[in-house]
Amino acid sequence: MERRSFIGKAAISLVTFAGAVAAISYLRQFFPRLAGEKRRIALGDPRRFPVDTFTFLEEHKLYVYRDHEGIKTVSAICTHLGCILEKSIDGFECPCHGSCYNNEGEVQSGPAPRDLAWYSVRRGADGKIVINPGERVSSDEKFLSS
Ligand code: FES
Repeated sequence: MERRSFIGKAAISLVTFAGAVAAISYLRQFFPRLAGEKRRIALGDPRRFPVDTFTFLEEHKLYVYRDHEGIKTVSAICTHLGCILEKSIDGFECPCHGSCYNNEGEVQSGPAPRDLAWYSVRRGADGKIVINPGERVSSDEKFLSS
C-alpha cells in the first residue's frame, strides 16, 4: 500500500469513527437514562410502603406506589434530559427545566417528549417480589399484593 493511500484510508476511518461517536452521543439524549435497566430489584415486603403514597427509592431512581390492591413502580427519571423528578401534589415535577407529569406519568407540560416508564412488579421464582426495569407495563398494571 502506498503511503498516500494509507494516509487517505486512515483519515477516512478516523472521520467515520468520530462521526459514529458523535451520532451515538446525540441519539442518547432521546432515551431516558435507565441505570441498571437489565437488573431486577428486590422490593421486599410491600407492606413497608405506606398506602396511597408514592415512595422514592433514591438508589434505583424509582417511585413505588402502593394502594390497598397492590403495588406498582414508575421511573423517577425525566424523559427530557434525565433529571430526577420530585413528587408534587398531583404528579411529578422536573426541577431542571420544569416538565410536569401527572400521577399516571403522563406529560402535562414539556419539554419532556414522552410519558414516564412504568416497570413490572412480579413475584420471582424464589418467591421474592421484584421490580423488573427491563419490562415496561402500563400505568394501571399492579402487582396484586392483597
Ligand atoms: S430534564 Fe426534565 S425537563 Fe429537562
